Parts: sequence; structure tokens; C-alpha cells
Amino acid sequence: MPSGELVYLDGELVRYGEAKISVEDRGFNFADGIYEVVRVLEGRAFRVEDHLDRFESGARALEIDLPLSRGEVRTAMLDVVRANGITEGTIYVQLTRGAAPRGHPFPEGATPTLVMLARPYPGPTEEQREGGVSAATEPDLRWGYCEVKTIGLLPNVLALQRARAQGCHEAILVRDGVVTEGSHSTAFCVRGETVYTHPIDNILPGITRRCLISALRSEAVNVQEVGVALDEFRAADEVFIVGTTTLVLPIVRVDGEKVGAGVPGDMTRLAMDLYRRDEEAFRAEARAR
Ligand code: PDD
Repeated sequence: MPSGELVYLDGELVRYGEAKISVEDRGFNFADGIYEVVRVLEGRAFRVEDHLDRFESGARALEIDLPLSRGEVRTAMLDVVRANGITEGTIYVQLTRGAAPRGHPFPEGATPTLVMLARPYPGPTEEQREGGVSAATEPDLRWGYCEVKTIGLLPNVLALQRARAQGCHEAILVRDGVVTEGSHSTAFCVRGETVYTHPIDNILPGITRRCLISALRSEAVNVQEVGVALDEFRAADEVFIVGTTTLVLPIVRVDGEKVGAGVPGDMTRLAMDLYRRDEEAFRAEARAR
């Protein structure tokens, strides 16, 4: 951590080393909170309104009162970006139910804790984007509220760690024989001319997913929001993953076996181009401000 880093904590920008949270913060004790990761391009927050929508709806789902208005959250995000001189990076925003003596029920009168960090992030490497990466499948051992972006990520962490131990970039999660999503990305596969991805049914409503589906459909691509069985997924012509930090990445091996020809396919390249087009439009608008 650069020693001069400034962190947003409950309404103030404080030095990283001085940002302190209670040992009984419910985020720490119960993973009782939500988060967002937002991409920063040209010093601006990419797709910020979608992230704010999901953040607000997550807070509602967990019945945590957001201490700031939507506009104030947006402003605080930009403040922490600017204070740290981040032009290309990410903003991490975390809201917990706050600190209170440990006990399962929602505490009376606790004040939610809101933290924001802005860090440089260059995105996946050229080699990963051009050559693709590998994935390993892992059982999806998560719970029934995967549509809420909670900070309770241990099943995701363990699945990814197992995949990394096999030299893979991402874990593809499988529930009841059906591919759900990545440990920290949304998974797509291509069979023939059709693109498939799991419906929003106990998976994270990914923002990159939603934007890409609409961009592909506007190019007259048939996108089906349908769960794909693991054996069909493994036999797909193409596989790719998408997300705020993943952008769009080709998966060229699943569980050690080549996907299709073992190189990024045409539909994956189209998806990458469509993402880049949105990114470039955003950059141009940000530069013009
Ligand atoms: N993760 N699915 C899961 C389980 C995720 O954690 C993420 C993002 C996605 C992609 O969602 P989006 O396109 O809205 O970023 C899908 C973030 C980046 C993270 O945990 O760091």
C-alpha cells in the first residue's frame, strides 16, 4: 500500500494506516454487508449508475440503511479516486451493518460502516486477452442469495484457490450439474451461432453481463439466458468470462481440455470488440469533459 493512500471511511478521507474499524463490525463478525467493484477509466467511474442501482438494491435486500444519498455515494467515489490520483483503476465500495456487541439479530441503532478504496488496475494482460486463459470447474457451494453482492465470498475464494492451485485463471462454478458463473466473473459459452449464459436465478446480476447481452443482441446475435449442463459447456465451441475486472476474457481450456480449437473464437472476439467499443465511447466522453 502506498503510505500516502487515502481511504474513504464514514464521510471522511483518512490515511490508510489511520482508517480504523471496530473489531465488532458486523462485516468482520458476520460478513453482514455488501460491496461493489467499479472500473475507473480516465479518472471517471465506468457504468456507475448500474453499480449504484445494484448497491442500493443490495442494501434494501439486507435492510441496511445507506448512510448517504445516491448522489453522495457517487461524489464520494469520485473524491477517493481524485484524492489518490487514480486514472485507470478500480473503486471498491463496502457497506456493512456497522459495529455492535456480537449477537445474531440486527442490532438496534448501529450505524452502517461505509468504506471506499481506489486503486490502480491495468486490467488483464495483453497475453491473457490475446491468448486466452484456462478455467477449472468447481462445485458451486454458495447459498440462496447470490443475487445480492454480499461480502460473504468464502465459497468463491476457496473455489478460485483450488482452480489457481491447478494453474487456472478462474473457477467456473457448477450447481446441480449446470454451470452458474465464475468465482468472480460471469461465464458465457457459444454453441454454433448461439451464445448462452445462466439466467439471473441465484447468480450475481453482473453489469458487464447485462451490457454485453444487449450489445450482442443489437448485433443480431442470438443470446439465450439458459443454464448449460457441464458436459455441454465443456463441449462448447467457445467459452468466455466477463466482469468489471475481467473485462471480456477468452477461456481456451476447461479442466485441462481445449475449448473448441483451443484459441479465442470469433464470437469471443466480437464480445471483446463490443466491450472495447463501449469503453472507448466512455473514454471519449470522459476526455471531453
Ligand atoms: N466480481 N459473478 C460474480 C460472482 C462476481 O463476483 C462478479 C464480479 C461478476 C461480474 O459482475 P460485474 O460485471 O458486475 O462486475 C459475476 C467483482 C469484480 C469482484 O468480486 O471483485
